[in-house]
Amino acid sequence: MRQSGATARRAPAHARLDTLYSVAEFRRRAKRALPPMVFDFIDGGAEDERTLRGNEQAFDDLWFRPQPLNDVSRRCQSVELFGRTLSVPVLLAPAGLAGLAWPHGEAVAARAASQAGVPFVVSTASSCSIEEVRAAAAGPLWLQLYLWRDRAVTGSLVRRAEDAGYEAICLTVDVPMSGSRERDLRNGMTIPPRIRFRNAAGVLSRPRWMARMAGAPVTFANVSDGGRGRTMALGAYVNSQLNPSASWDDLRWLRSAWPGKLVVKGVLDPNAACRLADEGADAVVVSNHGGRQLDGAVPAVRALPEIVDALGGRIPVLMDGGVRRGSDVVKALAIGATACLVGRPYLWGLAVAGEAGVSRVVGVLRDEIDRTLALLGTPSVGELVAQADRVLPGIGSTGGRAQGAAWEGRDRNAR
Ligand SMILES: Cc1cc2nc3c(=O)[nH]c(=O)nc-3n(C[C@H](O)[C@H](O)[C@H](O)COP(=O)(O)O)c2cc1C
Repeated sequence: MRQSGATARRAPAHARLDTLYSVAEFRRRAKRALPPMVFDFIDGGAEDERTLRGNEQAFDDLWFRPQPLNDVSRRCQSVELFGRTLSVPVLLAPAGLAGLAWPHGEAVAARAASQAGVPFVVSTASSCSIEEVRAAAAGPLWLQLYLWRDRAVTGSLVRRAEDAGYEAICLTVDVPMSGSRERDLRNGMTIPPRIRFRNAAGVLSRPRWMARMAGAPVTFANVSDGGRGRTMALGAYVNSQLNPSASWDDLRWLRSAWPGKLVVKGVLDPNAACRLADEGADAVVVSNHGGRQLDGAVPAVRALPEIVDALGGRIPVLMDGGVRRGSDVVKALAIGATACLVGRPYLWGLAVAGEAGVSRVVGVLRDEIDRTLALLGTPSVGELVAQADRVLPGIGSTGGRAQGAAWEGRDRNAR
């Protein structure tokens, strides 16, 4: 495998990764490792953060009904997606500016994903270029795109992805404009990040992060001037580039411009999911952008059953938002997802220990999925879909009744 400067940095000896047992522990360690401004950029959501919290709570509102005395001595969690076997039913979600968590963050995380046998989705807003990530990682890569004001910009990203051997384009459709992340506004978060009066104490309190980041400037490496030479509030920069008039015509144009797999991310509505399948999408990602866009949008796992039912197996359904445990992945797969994407969990791993941190987070999820399958009495994820009745909505949980109705539909379809 090719080496790059990105991969030369190893986990510090003090990072006793084998003593971090859960994604929640990685979050706590990331909070200590990062300046508050950077931690909040990763951790935060839009406005009152209801959807951010709702994503996790919706998983908490689902309960398992394990079956006893099934032979679970041999377990398998791998899944097939677009002709590839994913050793863990997880993908690393696109996350802009991962280079704030660790120098060359996307290249480093992509390398960990490759080694774990899972795809990495490079954000358009990444701090490493499409080509730099390809050079660092041999495994499957997807490129996440927005529809830009100028089709020529989108077209050139598509061509670069094709030239670099990316396997899929992941078109994000829930960002006609940037959501309002008030933590970023309060912290004076800009691109490139600048030390100002209101964030100076926080940045200076993390000398290890400062030392690590010296010489690794963070900009948008894939777009026009990459943000160089100007300092802009993050939301303002994103809004200046996005195209709020994007429509189904643009989707059709992209479908004709990209010969590979086209995945559409940011879908919460069953009718939209069906129309996307009609228009040639190869998969959808049920997602509310990790609660960073429309606050009040339905939690992703709660939107999942109706979308799975509506699509009826025409195309794979992926989901993200709030996955913090392997048991969450198993719940999503039992409802009918093919795999889950994770965003913050791997960014926290990256912040704690770079590539080794990301590998450990994926390893924690893998072990939790394995244990959940055994305890549930289901030896392979392939059998989960036929056993949707092993996951029950919480009795008396908020919105549980509506979800219960969708579940009943799912059960009927499965049998
Ligand atoms: C710091 C950060 C940056 C993100 N940047 C992007 C992005 O550039 N493009 C995109 O489609 N989604 C982006 N997302 C959303 C993720 O792809 C994903 O939908 C979300 O993180 C899933 O929720 P989770 O963090 O609870 O796993 C970002 C998420 C975070 C936390």
